[in-house]
Amino acid sequence: MAIDLGTGDGAAVLQRARREPTTLAIGVDPVASAMAETSARAARRADRGGLPNALFAVTSVEQLPPELANRADEVTVILPWGSLLDGIVGADPAVVGSMAALLRPGGRLEIVVSSVPRDGHRPLDAAGLAAAFRAFDVTSLETRAVTLPELRALGSTWAKRLRAGTPERPATRLRFRRTSR
Ligand SMILES: C[S@@+](CC[C@H](N)C(=O)[O-])C[C@H]1O[C@@H](n2cnc3c(N)ncnc32)[C@H](O)[C@@H]1O
Repeated sequence: MAIDLGTGDGAAVLQRARREPTTLAIGVDPVASAMAETSARAARRADRGGLPNALFAVTSVEQLPPELANRADEVTVILPWGSLLDGIVGADPAVVGSMAALLRPGGRLEIVVSSVPRDGHRPLDAAGLAAAFRAFDVTSLETRAVTLPELRALGSTWAKRLRAGTPERPATRLRFRRTSR
């Protein structure tokens, strides 16, 4: 199972569901209207391009359904904003714990964050975030700058709109893994 949290229009979910037909790809976002078109496309008959392995849930990181807990092989959070971004850059234990709870033992988490002063959010504290995740048995694997073409390859629609991963809006890719025990 792969969960894209803060999926926006859900393009990354369709991309993954198409690429990995045996993976259940779930998009989560509190804004239903943004996911409506991709959700309708996924619900078409398979011979009309439908993707029975793609699902969308209208909810937020603050209210994730317990059915998703301990199930995800991979969780992605690409260019979050709002309270999801605040929770990540501020290493809020409630938000960090909620994301960590999605992962099965050995599961991976990938977060791409861009927070520049004009956004009005705090800058990313990567070390603080890694420490917060460690408290939930999730360890940091890598933290590095990411480019716009890499973000496009991840299926992000907003990367291009924001020009994330360019000198005017640097973006950071953080990868984590939940310990296996
Ligand atoms: C800039 S968009 C990025 C969408 C997509 N990941 C992409 O890269 O194209 C940020 C998304 O974060 C979602 N978001 C904001 N607060 C959230 C929260 N508390 N829980 C889950 N998603 C949230 C927004 O609704 C929005 O769709």
